[in-house]
Amino acid sequence: MSLDAVSVAQEAWGSTPAGAVDRYTLSNGSGLRVSVLTYGGIVQSIEVPDRGGNTANVALGFASIQGYLDNPGPYFGAIIGRYGNRIAKGQFTIDGLAVQVPVNDGPNSLHGGTPGFDQRIWEATVTDDGALVLHHVSPDGDQGFPGTLWVTVTYRLTADNGLRIDYRATTDTATVVNLTNHSYFNLAGDGSGNVYDHVLRIDADAFTPVDATLIPTGEIAPVDGTPLDFRTPTAIGERIREDHTQLRYGSGYDHNWVLNNPEAGLRVVAHVAEPGTGRSLTVHTTEPGMQFYSGNFLTGTFAGASGHLYRQGDGLALETQHFPDSPNHPQFPTTELRPGQTYESTTVYEFGW
Ligand code: GLA
Repeated sequence: MSLDAVSVAQEAWGSTPAGAVDRYTLSNGSGLRVSVLTYGGIVQSIEVPDRGGNTANVALGFASIQGYLDNPGPYFGAIIGRYGNRIAKGQFTIDGLAVQVPVNDGPNSLHGGTPGFDQRIWEATVTDDGALVLHHVSPDGDQGFPGTLWVTVTYRLTADNGLRIDYRATTDTATVVNLTNHSYFNLAGDGSGNVYDHVLRIDADAFTPVDATLIPTGEIAPVDGTPLDFRTPTAIGERIREDHTQLRYGSGYDHNWVLNNPEAGLRVVAHVAEPGTGRSLTVHTTEPGMQFYSGNFLTGTFAGASGHLYRQGDGLALETQHFPDSPNHPQFPTTELRPGQTYESTTVYEFGW
């Protein structure tokens, strides 16, 4: 694929109380088509062919802006910030400053407060080589976090049928930041049922065990001998009902895997294959961790773009990230960002068929 094959189309896509929303559709000319909203930077659909040439949308989401406004809870496809996943009791200390961010998930803070970056309108530009650049300035004190945060998230399609996401952020005061994307995938097609037959591999020898409120205990535990061992490809449904404390706490998989070889930078960390269609997803990231979430909190109370209700397990999220609650665990890779530094993170979701 040459870069000239990338095309980008823009269309108006409704409005929110915060303003009008646009949808940008990136096509690479060899079958991959990805639509992104300026609201939340949401990846609204990912169209991928199967081995027989039949195209389907493999990302969970809604057919209209109203769906996203009515159902922010699952964070379908959205940019998550300022802090992906949980901070215990919404509290941490940085440079002697005690910070309290809003608590929105039982006793804890989840995904950066209400509203987080998933509910903001991002400023969009398109580059000459077909990348969509989203920009947002989060003022000092936004979601309770110190410092102004200038954030840029760039979406582009790669020659290998990848959706590449580059995150950059700078600040004017010491703060913490942990950005991710909350796409849910169903490689058999959105609305086609659960993903338990998807075969998953995660290149991680360890994970961060959690307590009953899904806050890491601080331990880095081996996956060996647990249902969290995905070092060899295993169907998601094969062990999801095993009576293991961690699966009880998460109502399934909802954990941070400690990815191997963090020093290697951008590397392959996970692979998903759907036997029925032949579609696959390879995840590359620069991040040290990844939350594999098996859609446990989807309860059949709303319908997605396909018109079908989403039930438990109907999609899987692979959220590349720093570890949950890092600001309270000095032994975890740091999420601190200081003036003069640039937060940089890259993830590629590469599709095959
Ligand atoms: C993450 C969290 C889950 C849940 C989902 C969104 O994966 O770890 O507990 O909040 O986001 O529903």
